[in-house]
Amino acid sequence: MEHFRVLFTRDQIAAKVAELGAQITADLAGEAVVLIGVLKGATIFLADLAREIKLDVSFDFIAVSSYGSAKQQSGEVKLVKDVDQSMEGKNVILVEDILDSGLTLTYIAKLLQAHQPKSIRIAALLDKPSRRIEPIRADYVGFQIPDQFVVGYGLDFAERYRNLPDICVVETTSDGA
Ligand code: IMP
Ligand code: MG
Repeated sequence: MEHFRVLFTRDQIAAKVAELGAQITADLAGEAVVLIGVLKGATIFLADLAREIKLDVSFDFIAVSSYGSAKQQSGEVKLVKDVDQSMEGKNVILVEDILDSGLTLTYIAKLLQAHQPKSIRIAALLDKPSRRIEPIRADYVGFQIPDQFVVGYGLDFAERYRNLPDICVVETTSDGA
């Protein structure tokens, strides 16, 4: 049976997202920026982060699928939806819910490099550094977490629980507790 334990409340998340937005605003002062959300997990983070960035902001989205079960990835990443516009000469921020093995963002960052953007940055709400396979790091990280499976605020378990306002750890118990 699944049991949820709150790891970060909606208030903690909101405060952190405001911090990240202020940092991005300062780092890119006077520049235009394209936020590229990785569907679907990043949508809620992107929506909140965008409103904390006081710059000329536009949105684009990319979708990838990774083979494997809900909790375990196989390592193969496939492009499902590319960006709509060329990123040539743009300041791009890849917005992702969680940086885990790093396979997804490594794949997407390589893909976008081919567009010759002016700059590429990565904003990840969560980071599980202990799980990293590819040596990639985010420029903006909300919270570092240990190797625990989390849901809520966009993050899913088999497509469910994205709408939970808090970020929760999924704990599976065999005794039905
Ligand atoms: P990576 O390619 O291993 O870095 O995986 C990134 C993707 O794995 C994220 O976009 C999530 O969709 C998924 N993921 C990794 N850890 C979790 C988790 O704890 N909860 C929900 N999804 C996760
Ligand atoms: Mg996911």
